[in-house]
Amino acid sequence: MLSPADSLAPEWLVEPDDANDLADGVWPASAIRDVDGALVLAGLSATALVQTYGTPLLVIDEDEVRTRARAFRSAFDRAAAEHGTTAQVYYAGKAFLCTTIARWVVDEGLRVDVCTGGELEVALAAGVAPAAIGFHGNNKSTAELQRAVDVGVGSIIVDSEIEIERLSAITARTGAVQRVFVRVISGVHAETHDFLATAHEDQKFGFPLPEAEKAVARIREIPGLDFAGLHCHIGSQIFGVAGFRESASRVLELHATLLEGGPVPQLNLGGGFGIAYTRVDDPTPIEELAAEIVAAVAQGCDARGIAIPALSFEPGRAIVGTAGVTLYEVGTTKDVTVESGAVRRYISVDGGMSDNARPALYGAQFSARLASRVGDGSPQLSRVVGKHCESGDIVVDHEYLPGDLVPGDLLAVPATGAYCVSLASNYNHVPRPPVIAVRDGKSRVIVRGETIDDLLARDAGIDGGRESDRSRPSTSEGAR
Ligand code: LLP
Repeated sequence: MLSPADSLAPEWLVEPDDANDLADGVWPASAIRDVDGALVLAGLSATALVQTYGTPLLVIDEDEVRTRARAFRSAFDRAAAEHGTTAQVYYAGKAFLCTTIARWVVDEGLRVDVCTGGELEVALAAGVAPAAIGFHGNNKSTAELQRAVDVGVGSIIVDSEIEIERLSAITARTGAVQRVFVRVISGVHAETHDFLATAHEDQKFGFPLPEAEKAVARIREIPGLDFAGLHCHIGSQIFGVAGFRESASRVLELHATLLEGGPVPQLNLGGGFGIAYTRVDDPTPIEELAAEIVAAVAQGCDARGIAIPALSFEPGRAIVGTAGVTLYEVGTTKDVTVESGAVRRYISVDGGMSDNARPALYGAQFSARLASRVGDGSPQLSRVVGKHCESGDIVVDHEYLPGDLVPGDLLAVPATGAYCVSLASNYNHVPRPPVIAVRDGKSRVIVRGETIDDLLARDAGIDGGRESDRSRPSTSEGAR
């Protein structure tokens, strides 16, 4: 008999009565089970989707993305109007950028934040108006900056003195006037995984507050630069508003000082709003977040006797995260007995750290459910692992799954819409899976799956060093 201390389950994971239930808030709102017990997303069963597209498969629920984009937009609009200002919401493309998603969020009234030349090209290819693009990054090259200025991006968020001088030279050459924000580090440490907190003093992003004043003074001297305001992003997967409140208060101190030297029309407080990956995560509702953050800024401005600036925010994960569900096929299962006598079931699926690097990178927790049917075996503590040659190749570290789960079953991992495709790799030469969008009982490919030919195409040692015709995806294949 095992004592509770011998259990391999972490404290937060409670054995469910039913290991087939779909926890509230973790799945897209459309997720249900059909009469056969299969998972259904936007009216389409996981089984049917996999018959068409295979596994692994990332399914994005279009309405979930649109609803969340709209919710952010209207919550911040309302909160800003209440305090006599305006708010713009940028979708942080790093969470997952492809042309289709860029078009959805723009349709819903959002702008787009990009942080590399590559992301900029995707946004432009999607037809996003350059004026609605914000360009981030701590190491933008002269070529990237030149391209951004040439196409007329709405704002560039500058991150270093060197970048200011690069922009000075570019605008002097072209005669353009570029609107810029200055990224600052407020010193607030968001309560999240260390790698995700970008407001530590000892990290690569932005200017420490005291140095930002000098940077702004320099920008104001340059005729080709139009200073818009300060930018601060305190981290990612943040719950609650305390971090945003504290950070806003510190940044407003500098904002008020800068007003003595000229206009500071805007303030961008970044993104970082958390989502639920497992049933124990309890993110603050968007309405509440928006109301409290904007109220905190308004109070901070009142206290300093300054006008409230126009505000902007940059949610990424909170727009697309919950919209994504990854479907895998179970390949093998194995019961491993550890020294204490406790047993953990290892369930191997046909993807892994190449399509979801978050557990390996950040120790991120996910959850999982049987997707092709409901299981009736008693809940078994399981670890879902990938097919990569690495023991850290974990997809879901801890989950109770039905004990009768067998090879051939489909497994669904929810909340994979953000930072999974963006961080995907070809480790072990595993092709990256297709991404499909589902809506109202219809599905379509929005990013086609990679083929082995795609992988071979870059190997200059094949076919005498020349790329063969078969190694290039044809246009029709690309459009699939
Ligand atoms: N704005 C800036 C300046 C950022 O650096 C980020 C994220 C965002 C907005 C969007 O943050 P979000 O709302 O998505 O939390 N790969 C990590 C997350 C890295 C976030 C980087 N910056 C993960 O998978 O958790």
